[in-house]
Amino acid sequence: MALKITVIGTGYLGATHAAAMAELGFEVLGLDVVPEKIELLSSGRVPMYEPGLEELLAKHVAGIEGSSGRLRFTTSWEEVGAFGDVHFVCVNTPQKHGEYACDMSYVDAAFASLAEVVREGALVVGKSTVPVGSAERLVGVLPEGVELAWNPEFLREGFAVQDTLHPDRIVVGVQDERAEKLMREVYAGPVGDGSPFVVTDFPTAELVKTSANSFLATKISFINAMAEVCEAAGGDVVKLAEAIGYDDRIGAKFLRAGIGFGGGCLPKDIRAFMARAGELGADQALTFLREIDSINMRRRGQMVEMAREALGGSTFLGRRVAVLGATFKPDSDDVRDSPALNVAGQIHLQGGQVTVYDPKGMDNARRLFPTLGYAESALEAVRGADVVLHLTEWREFRELDPAALAEVAASRVILDGRNALDSERWRTAGWTYRAMGRPR
Ligand code: UGA
Repeated sequence: MALKITVIGTGYLGATHAAAMAELGFEVLGLDVVPEKIELLSSGRVPMYEPGLEELLAKHVAGIEGSSGRLRFTTSWEEVGAFGDVHFVCVNTPQKHGEYACDMSYVDAAFASLAEVVREGALVVGKSTVPVGSAERLVGVLPEGVELAWNPEFLREGFAVQDTLHPDRIVVGVQDERAEKLMREVYAGPVGDGSPFVVTDFPTAELVKTSANSFLATKISFINAMAEVCEAAGGDVVKLAEAIGYDDRIGAKFLRAGIGFGGGCLPKDIRAFMARAGELGADQALTFLREIDSINMRRRGQMVEMAREALGGSTFLGRRVAVLGATFKPDSDDVRDSPALNVAGQIHLQGGQVTVYDPKGMDNARRLFPTLGYAESALEAVRGADVVLHLTEWREFRELDPAALAEVAASRVILDGRNALDSERWRTAGWTYRAMGRPR
């Protein structure tokens, strides 16, 4: 009989994982403690913008016409315990308020609830990003006869469905062969399609996740450090990235210089990793991550300075600043630790009149930064602006007509915080175009 799967926590990770498991042919039950989320998901909708996810849900959620009916959602732990052969824990591990360490309270609560209801012989699989050593501790929370595997997730927002169905690799930390066998059964589809399957112990599996995100953050801060040197020396970081990226050992990806990384993962993961290394007495090994973090934060400040300079160098008071982009990256409505909103907020605090437009992130941005100004289109945001800041590289912004915007702007200066616009198009339409790490 096919395995029955539950997914606990229905954020980006859980909702996508649940839909993907149904797509792979399993019967799936998703649980969340927030009833409104369950109601929404049960009607095939998601509380966030993630391309392709609603289509996949509609294909499988029970009760939707023409669906496979393999996917259901609940708030009942009893139902989850009775249903599942394999339980995936996909809850959030945010940064603790005012600290570097990550907040394990959702993971701990999920394990405690699951431990009360889980059937003997079932497998619990941790997917949340946790400090190394957590799995070893959590296995002790589960009753006798219930096993644990650790299976970190590497999906990117905006590509969640594709990354879940066709992962670059599947990593599982196990303590015995039975858990490995069950995990192989769950992932037979993607492994059959060529995804490498890496079996290891708990600590290594946990570390693969945090080290992968640390490496990505390091690559971005490295190229942003080169942007700083280019700014000082008159070089062009975009050409530099292209040229070093041709070396296979370096690779061209994640070398886009700009206002740096944000979101719910990279920033908090490198901080939690440093905090955990400190607890383990290995803090020296990760001191470089402190530098990665500070280069990253510095680039946001540099964007504010570029804007100040574009406005004549002294004050933002009474000046109108258009901000294109609010999300931490395109194809997402996520504004958690968004570099774009951070820059907008800094300018606002210094007296600038900021107007933000984003294709998908407006509602979340308004909730987080209610005091900023918002416009319903890029054209409206730019109307009357003394300077335009391009801070999230949405396709919509690349396709804007610089000539049309030139007609409504008070001053034709655009600062590209993502090195993503076609500078020649903007210059031809009469704009002064400046970007980070590039000559004027
Ligand atoms: C990241 C990882 O890429 C995923 O593999 C991982 O699973 C996920 O975190 C997680 O831990 O859950 P995500 O947060 O969706 O995924 O975003 P990324 O695509 O990694 O982008 C992160 C930030 O880096 C964005 O703000 C983006 O604008 C910035 N970035 C990215 C750059 O500034 N330059 C680049 O060259 C690439």
